[in-house]
Amino acid sequence: MISDVAYRPIGVFDSGVGGLTVCRKIAETLPAESIVYLGDTARVPYGSKSAATVIRYAGACAELLSARNIKLLVVACNTASAFALDTLRAQLSIPVVGVVMPGARAACKRSVSGRIGVIGTRGVISSGVYDATIRQIRPEARVVSAACPLFVPFAEEGWTEGDVITSVARTYLSGLLEKDIDTLVLGCTHYPMLRNVIAGVAGAAVHLVDSAEETACAVVNILEERGLLLTDAVRGTHTFLVSDSPDSFSATGAQFFGHALNQVEWLDVCVG
Ligand code: DGL
Repeated sequence: MISDVAYRPIGVFDSGVGGLTVCRKIAETLPAESIVYLGDTARVPYGSKSAATVIRYAGACAELLSARNIKLLVVACNTASAFALDTLRAQLSIPVVGVVMPGARAACKRSVSGRIGVIGTRGVISSGVYDATIRQIRPEARVVSAACPLFVPFAEEGWTEGDVITSVARTYLSGLLEKDIDTLVLGCTHYPMLRNVIAGVAGAAVHLVDSAEETACAVVNILEERGLLLTDAVRGTHTFLVSDSPDSFSATGAQFFGHALNQVEWLDVCVG
């Protein structure tokens, strides 16, 4: 007998549209689950903000989603996962899933040589969270990383191909590619939107890893363990909330989510 809690939605948040790449994987893997997604578009980017600020913003997002009676929270943002995961876990009584551990796990499984590159926001790279997590799993791994702060505004604009972004990617990746990596972690949930450009610059010998699939697996495992997994034939609903104008989010978000976002509502993140 499935408990009433199982029928509550899964909450997912990011600073903007990037987390929709994770949301999409969860929706594809678990079609019966309802999802409430919050993009904190009024305050994007998180990646250049201090840890204290990101913890505050992440706390506000978690609180707003908790008010929607969610059963599990996915922090679909590497920056918030790096800085705020422990705080959120201490504050909330529901399970909280981040994206760093799933991404690190996928990279460790995938890499043959153990030479792993990581790209992410300034916050993620300076936190050293991927270095530490990868070495925890594969102590012999050699991790090299680079911050790519311009990638997020390109992705938010839906500007995912062309000469300009290719030249930016070449500049960001050249140092990592010199180190002969065989695996590159897209350590920001916005970056899968730039996958074609990044793959083109990195070359066929470098395998790109994004955390979406492993995060969806982590969600399945936790819900299953707790008897909260819905496997009904009925499809769940998807609600999208944003803290700035819904218009541009709807347009760009559709690219990230894979199809049109039916319902995008504005939410005041400064309240509460
Ligand atoms: N998508 C986010 C991440 O994974 C945040 C990007 C940003 O707001 O700077 O870190």
